[in-house]
Amino acid sequence: MGIQFDARTQTFTLQTIHTTYQMRVDERGRLLHMYYGRKIGRGDLRELYPPADHGFSPDYYPCRLRRGVSPDVLPQEYTGCNVGDFRLSCLVVRDPDGAAGADFLYESHEITPGKYTLDGLPCAHDEGAEAETLCIRMKDPVTGLCLELLYGVFAEQDVITRAVRLKNAGAAPLRLEKAASACLDLPFGNWDLVHFHGRHAMERKMERAPLPAAITTVSSTRGASSHHHNPFVILCDHDATEDHGLCYGVMLVYSGSHRTDMEVDQNGLTRVVSGLHDERFSWQLEPGESFTAPEVLLCCSAGGLGDLSRHYHKFLRRNICRSPFRYTRRPVLINNWEATYFDFNTDTICRIAEKAASLGVEMMVLDDGWFGKRNDDNAGLGDWYVNEEKLPGGLRPLIERVNALGMKFGLWVEPEMVSEDSDLYRAHPDWALTLPGRSPAMGRNQLVLDLSRPEVVDYLVERLSALLAENHIEYIKWDMNRNMSDVYSRALPPERQGEVAHRYMLGVYRLLDRLTTAFPHVLFEGCAGGGGRFDAGMLCYFPQIWCSDNTDAIERLTIQHGTSFGYPVSAMGAHVSACPNHQTGRTVPLWTRAVVAMSGTFGYELDLGRLTDEECGQVRQQIKTFQRYYDVIQNGDYYRLRDPDRQPRYVAWQTVTEGESLVSLVLTHPEANARPLHLCLKGLEEDALYKVDELRVYGTTETPESGDKPDSQVGAVCSGSMLMYAGYILPHMIGDAPSLQLHLTRLP
Ligand code: GLA
Repeated sequence: MGIQFDARTQTFTLQTIHTTYQMRVDERGRLLHMYYGRKIGRGDLRELYPPADHGFSPDYYPCRLRRGVSPDVLPQEYTGCNVGDFRLSCLVVRDPDGAAGADFLYESHEITPGKYTLDGLPCAHDEGAEAETLCIRMKDPVTGLCLELLYGVFAEQDVITRAVRLKNAGAAPLRLEKAASACLDLPFGNWDLVHFHGRHAMERKMERAPLPAAITTVSSTRGASSHHHNPFVILCDHDATEDHGLCYGVMLVYSGSHRTDMEVDQNGLTRVVSGLHDERFSWQLEPGESFTAPEVLLCCSAGGLGDLSRHYHKFLRRNICRSPFRYTRRPVLINNWEATYFDFNTDTICRIAEKAASLGVEMMVLDDGWFGKRNDDNAGLGDWYVNEEKLPGGLRPLIERVNALGMKFGLWVEPEMVSEDSDLYRAHPDWALTLPGRSPAMGRNQLVLDLSRPEVVDYLVERLSALLAENHIEYIKWDMNRNMSDVYSRALPPERQGEVAHRYMLGVYRLLDRLTTAFPHVLFEGCAGGGGRFDAGMLCYFPQIWCSDNTDAIERLTIQHGTSFGYPVSAMGAHVSACPNHQTGRTVPLWTRAVVAMSGTFGYELDLGRLTDEECGQVRQQIKTFQRYYDVIQNGDYYRLRDPDRQPRYVAWQTVTEGESLVSLVLTHPEANARPLHLCLKGLEEDALYKVDELRVYGTTETPESGDKPDSQVGAVCSGSMLMYAGYILPHMIGDAPSLQLHLTRLP
């Protein structure tokens, strides 16, 4: 396992438990990709790529007479620029003459224990002697541009990380116009693309379709990873299912504009190129300067989409997230946003907190509207000083009252933004991103601060640090409520304006790094109008991210299903909100809302004072249920049992630890004279025995005369093999969105 170099054949082999990755320096010094897939043993992979002359695919110059050796045909590890490979390119670089060209030749390599780090960018880390690093150095002899290809091999996790450093070792300045993070050539096979698209309040809807013989792009130019296209794609066999089939995941550790292209070439080779979006991007590389492209997490599984997801869940939690909270039990919270919006004062918040505390809620989060002149969303962003008209005496008296109830206190901020109507904007209009001579496009009537400027980052570190140091704040919700247009920095010269969007992200990461390091006891939750920046970059700093502004439990089934392909339950912010739901107007039983929110970090976002006594009793029960099942929900392996789009009648999912399992089901479309609710469970041990020790049916229920009462199923003992292969019949349910939870304990 790990990384080997065979000097005789000039071959690099990266082995993880179940996969092999191989590349080779060819006779001309180019680095060819040979293989990535299920683990393989000995054999010469060169035989897979016999010389073949293809019309209009040019040969390397020394092969011009012999022919049949073309950069346009051979699988490449990272492409050059403008030198004969017409497929997707990783790089565009220009010299001072305007010539775009680069052709990298192998120089040296180094294999070291541990995991490389990337200057200024979030990336995976080693949790104790588990990773190895390979650095391959290449150089374009004409421009002097050096390419360092970095590989982090996490053998136990079946994950290979990749990143790229480019250094100008020549004498003249160079200009990068594209610098992707990774290229993955899959020479054989036909693939489906699985990707996660959407919009505000409907993020990460899963879509699966065969890759056409063309270029397909999944991208965002919004300055954020976006609600619209998540920076994560999966390529899988046409017949791959949740449980079987070959799948490849490509996940970018980046939160800004991104682009992943997939091309099926003339010979059926599929190329994936992933990295920063190159629209309006350029980067000036003076002699001696370097540029680092963000990290990509590659994972390959022959065990279907479910197995691929579980690999990412474990990896993101263990090796991406750095927060001390990544494995700890997080408090059940109540957030006042959907309860009060901007209309609150100290007493309103205390009333919500008192009620919540009496029901077992552990933290009160004060959302938008506590600062500056923030009475609606037109003013105040940037003025991170308490609005004393709403909160007389500041935050302290409020926090003391909340703490006296035995609750923690959390606060909402949106530091990357500024309102035109704010003291900060009046003092520093040049700190906002706007184009000279144009009125900017306004998103939520606010502007984006120019975080490419170090002084803006310093200001925010200073202001937020003071807020956190002066007040007993144990949680921060970090929001970001518009996308980036009018990208222009007043602090950079004309030739560096193409750098602003990426420098902005580097500023955000610097800001987050400084604050999370200085305040390790604060739990940070990411947010961007819901899940507009739900990505591995943000998960380096935030152990959880608000999944969506859509809190309708039925809509959340689709959103959380899609999110689960890449991201763990412990990362998904999910709350029970009021009905009729504020986004859809739908009414769903209170218990069903809780069953869905329990498949995330779990909390409430409604005015508990409006609930009836019976509903309050349910809330108390829900919190106890969540706390009882906490371990299996948050730490269990996650299995999708039904697809909300393809199997619409009921949606179900399951989490499994060694000793227990929890199945959750929501009946979305009740049917008359219905067939029984049947599920084949997953992830159990075939020969172990499992006892049904709780079966809770929530919502409108009715037991048909022919069927058993749910109670009679409790106590039943079944083998894992029976539950998985023959399946299990659940109690009949009717009505609007009833749900159930089935808890199994493995018998010793
Ligand atoms: C965003 C968030 C919401 C809420 C509002 C406040 O939309 O996603 O949860 O915090 O901002 O303005």
